[in-house]
Amino acid sequence: MEVIIRDSAEEVSVLGAKIVARLVRRKPRCVLGLATGRTPLRLYLELIRLYAAGELDFSGVETFNLDEYVGLPPGHPQSYHFYMRENFFRHVNIPARLTHIPDGCSADLRRHCLDYETAIKEAGGIDLQLLGIGSNGHIGFNEPTGSLNSRTWIKILSEKTLKDNAALFPTPEEQPRHVISMGIGTILEAGHCVVLACGAQKSSAVKAMIEGPVSSMCPASALQLHPRATVIADSAAAARLDHSEHYRWIEQHKLDWQKYE
Ligand code: PGA
Repeated sequence: MEVIIRDSAEEVSVLGAKIVARLVRRKPRCVLGLATGRTPLRLYLELIRLYAAGELDFSGVETFNLDEYVGLPPGHPQSYHFYMRENFFRHVNIPARLTHIPDGCSADLRRHCLDYETAIKEAGGIDLQLLGIGSNGHIGFNEPTGSLNSRTWIKILSEKTLKDNAALFPTPEEQPRHVISMGIGTILEAGHCVVLACGAQKSSAVKAMIEGPVSSMCPASALQLHPRATVIADSAAAARLDHSEHYRWIEQHKLDWQKYE
C-alpha cells in the first residue's frame, strides 16, 4: 500500500484530484469509479475548477458509482444520484449516458446487481476507483464481516454506519437500512484504488486498514492485497499509525515518475 500523509483535508482532496486529473489527461477514455459521502466533496470541487479553467476534458470519461440506497428515487435529496448530479455531474462534461449509479428502485434488485457487474466489465473495467472509508472500516457499503470476495449486491447497513450518517437524514425513519454496493471483489479489480481519509473519527479504521491484519472485521484491509492501492490521509486520520515516519520516508524517496506532485 502507498500511504501519503498530508497536514489538512484540503491538501488530501487537492492531491486526490491531481491523481484523477492525471489519469483523465493520460487516458481521455478512462473509466472512473466514484464515491459519495462527505470526504470526496472537496475533490469534486477541485475537478470542477480544473474543468472550468479549461484544464480538463471529461467528454470521453465513463463512471461507475460505488453504491446507492435501496428505495430512494434519483430525485431524493439523500440519494447518491442526487448527490452526484449536484456535486459533480451537472458541472462537468461527462456524457450522461456514460454515468452509472446503481438503481436502488429497480423492480428487480438482484438482476440489477448482476447487470451492474456486467456493465463494468463491458466498459473495460475500472481504471481508478475513488474510495472513502467508514469509521468501522467499510469501503463502499461493505460492512465488517462481509465477504472479502463479494460482488455488487444488496447489503444491510450496520448500526454503526446508520449512526454515522443519521445526521444526513431528517428523521431516522427516512434513513434506508439497505443499499446496493459494489463488493470488495469488484473494488479489488480496479486498476488503481485511491482512498481518501480525513478526520480523527477515521483514525482507528485507517490504522486497521494499513497496519492491521487483512480481516473482514476491517473490509478496507482487503486493499493490502491490491497491487496498486493509495491511501491519502490527513494528519488527524493518520494519528494512530505506528509507522508514519516510514511512509514519509518512502514518499521522499520516490523516483520522479512515481510522484504525483
Ligand atoms: P464520509 O463517508 O466521507 O461521509 O465520512 C465515508 C464512507 O462511509 O465511505
